[in-house]
Amino acid sequence: MERTHWYRDRVFYQIWPRSFKDGNGDGMGDLYGVLEKLDYLKSLGIGGIWFSPLYVSPGVDCGYDIADYYHIAPEFGGDEAFDEVLKAAHERDIKVIMDLVVNHTSTECEWFQKSRKRIEPYTDYYIWRPARPDGKLPNNWDSEFEGDSAWEWDEERGEYYLHIFAIKQADLNMDNPLVREEVKKILRYWLDKGVDGFREDVITYISKPEGLPNERLLPVHKGVTQYNMGPHLHEYLEEFKTEVLDDYDQVTLAEATLIKPKKALSLIGYGPDKVIDMVIQFECQCADCLLTDYIPLPFSLRKMKRAFRNWQVKLYGKGWNMLYIENHDHPRMVSRYGSEKFHDESAKTLCAMYMFLQGTPFVYQGQEIGMINWHPENEDMYEDVQTRNHRTHLPTKRRLRLLWRASRDSARTPVQWTSGKNAGFSEVEPWFYVNDRAKDINVEDQEKDPASVLNFYRKAIELRKSIPVVKDGMYTEYMKGSGSFYVYSRDDEKQSLLVMCSFKGHSRNLKVPAKFDLGKGKLILSNYDVQDSGRVIKMRPYEVRVYLFDL
Ligand code: GLC
Ligand code: CA
Repeated sequence: MERTHWYRDRVFYQIWPRSFKDGNGDGMGDLYGVLEKLDYLKSLGIGGIWFSPLYVSPGVDCGYDIADYYHIAPEFGGDEAFDEVLKAAHERDIKVIMDLVVNHTSTECEWFQKSRKRIEPYTDYYIWRPARPDGKLPNNWDSEFEGDSAWEWDEERGEYYLHIFAIKQADLNMDNPLVREEVKKILRYWLDKGVDGFREDVITYISKPEGLPNERLLPVHKGVTQYNMGPHLHEYLEEFKTEVLDDYDQVTLAEATLIKPKKALSLIGYGPDKVIDMVIQFECQCADCLLTDYIPLPFSLRKMKRAFRNWQVKLYGKGWNMLYIENHDHPRMVSRYGSEKFHDESAKTLCAMYMFLQGTPFVYQGQEIGMINWHPENEDMYEDVQTRNHRTHLPTKRRLRLLWRASRDSARTPVQWTSGKNAGFSEVEPWFYVNDRAKDINVEDQEKDPASVLNFYRKAIELRKSIPVVKDGMYTEYMKGSGSFYVYSRDDEKQSLLVMCSFKGHSRNLKVPAKFDLGKGKLILSNYDVQDSGRVIKMRPYEVRVYLFDL
């Protein structure tokens, strides 16, 4: 089937279903809620939805532990509600992509239940190992979620199984051709139903190296340097592509921990040997931490710019970027790279800063109104398995401060639709806490205010889609060393787009790049009233300006 690469002209929205909108009044977000809000998404300019997992699951990792790949969970409305959403989305020209979680399954999945009993053909579906004669674990790998070994003893089978994530998320043995057949069957099932592609969860972990060697490089997340980008990854992805995906005009998006552009280009890109369309890189999440949110550092604008630059420059002409600043795995950006004090200003700067880069932008639910991190009163209020199992010896206050910055729950509170009861998310008490900032940060109020963050997103998305240079223009950056400003342009023979962002909480003068005369350009987007257009302009706190030049 001829690929049209439709995803390159669209802006996506990520729905993390539990917290998006409750449509049937039981406190849990669901597909009825999605149905209610499709027109809202359309009005925002959204052309695609990525659904975090909707499948049947015990919910140990909020759906990333799948028990049944062929059915939508009843709490989200079941298969019927999904069919309705898919149809209604397509009627509005909104594409739908699903989360494909095949590095592991829930231990409640039928495959695992049979595998632990050695019922064929499931015996080798997972990564089972006997105890070593000296009684030691099979290797030194860590579980990313348990703060402990990645091996769990199973009484029934009398062996250990591997779980890189929670105990109830057992890693599949992708070297077994039968498992790969299952993956292909799942892909085909959902594509035949009409979905438009997949976001592939921790897909770079699926090929474990032979002999499962010990981690020797890292003191934490032990194992990741062994199984990330494993020996057969490319081959398996190619198999999925040539045997299934190539029959459909779909898109694939691979979550890729630790990946750098050069490695990414072995997977994505325009060549026929490339097996994926886009990767979710993590570099852009590391400007205020060391590899993980749990090792926070002060925000460094230079680091953030380096991350975006790296991908913009190295993929140019070779591969397509996926652009994002938020998702369900990281705390909110206004609280991190922006400023809660200059809430609206910084939310808008963050929006414009990435919306005009090369690639396909993704907006995470609530980001479009500038939702900020949630402040729980105590630790027991956290739900997330990773947060609950995170071990430190910090005193309570400091620990709460760390979790505020690091926990995935900071971005998982219900979407704030109104300032009213339960933030308009549900008529009954929601499954999770509502951020009390719903009072002043919510969709309803922002709809009424032409200068709101929401309307800024609307405008930015509209501009992104209508200005040709944003799609393929060359990326040039200015003042790379500046710790105050992020300034770049996108250029082709006909147009130049200049984006200037301040990341400072006070006013500062900015010397406009010599090749641009602001007087000759058109200011198309800004978050303050703009009077000056000289060679040196005064940028107010978190000010952003976007100018378009017709050449
Ligand atoms: C990915 C998901 C995350 C999940 C993990 C295990 O990183 O985005 O939410 O917990 O994989 O499936
Ligand atoms: Ca519900």
